[in-house]
Amino acid sequence: MERVTQEIMLVTIAVLGGTGKEGSGLALRWANSGYRVFIGSRAPERAQAKAEELNAQLGGTYIAGMSNLEAAKNADVVVLSVPYEAHRAILEEVREALGGKVMIDVTVPIIPPHVRQVFVPDGHSASLEAQEFLGEDTKVVAAFQNVSAVHLKDIEHPVDCDVLVCGNDMDAKADAIHLVKAAGMRGIDAGPLANSVAVEALTPVLLYINREYQVKGAGIRITGLPVDG
Ligand SMILES: NC(=O)c1ccc[n+]([C@@H]2O[C@H](COP(=O)([O-])OP(=O)(O)OC[C@H]3O[C@@H](n4cnc5c(N)ncnc54)[C@H](OP(=O)(O)O)[C@@H]3O)[C@@H](O)[C@H]2O)c1
Repeated sequence: MERVTQEIMLVTIAVLGGTGKEGSGLALRWANSGYRVFIGSRAPERAQAKAEELNAQLGGTYIAGMSNLEAAKNADVVVLSVPYEAHRAILEEVREALGGKVMIDVTVPIIPPHVRQVFVPDGHSASLEAQEFLGEDTKVVAAFQNVSAVHLKDIEHPVDCDVLVCGNDMDAKADAIHLVKAAGMRGIDAGPLANSVAVEALTPVLLYINREYQVKGAGIRITGLPVDG
């Protein structure tokens, strides 16, 4: 794979579930930073329609839409952004395309309707379950779970929260932190993939805070660090 940190514009990014709220916001922001982005969907025509919509917003043709499998095959880095109940099924579908790649998992294990309550899955976190299922040949990194989609879709809007990034492979984690920055946020190395248990569990806490304080996009900010992390 082209290292993201070395060859920024040569790197292509697939966003599986990129027709959705979180994935489409990330796709928009990476395309706006100069990356070629492939949106994946269960229905290629839905992905194409979303790509057209985002391209129109950006005034270019940086994003293409296709099936989840095609997107995963075509990209150097694969981002998974689907509801937890779809997580395993999509991993099964794209597994063959992920060997040797970095996969950034955005998925939060919450079970509707109890979305404001921490749910710890059997494998402890969605990202750990992905790593276990895919094997060590795929470098799974957990990121973006604590950033609300409401902040992503308006590219003029600065995102006032940090992104905790967990992973076992230091190069993959550095690549993910680079992509966090490209999406307009500060990425913080938050340790090994095992720490994704805590990061994923913060999201239902933030969803609770959203409702309690009548806001839409509560996020987290780590204090005590130099400004650039
Ligand atoms: N929304 C947020 O603010 C936010 C913030 C942080 C983290 N997250 C996490 O990021 C992930 C995506 O969130 P989201 O809000 O973008 O979700 P979403 O809009 O509900 O779904 C994302 C995409 O996943 C696909 N999908 C939905 N249900 C599916 C199913 N049963 N089987 C297979 N694919 C399915 C759909 O794509 P196709 O129909 O095109 O296949 C959908 O557009 C979730 O795990 C969420 O917890 C969300």
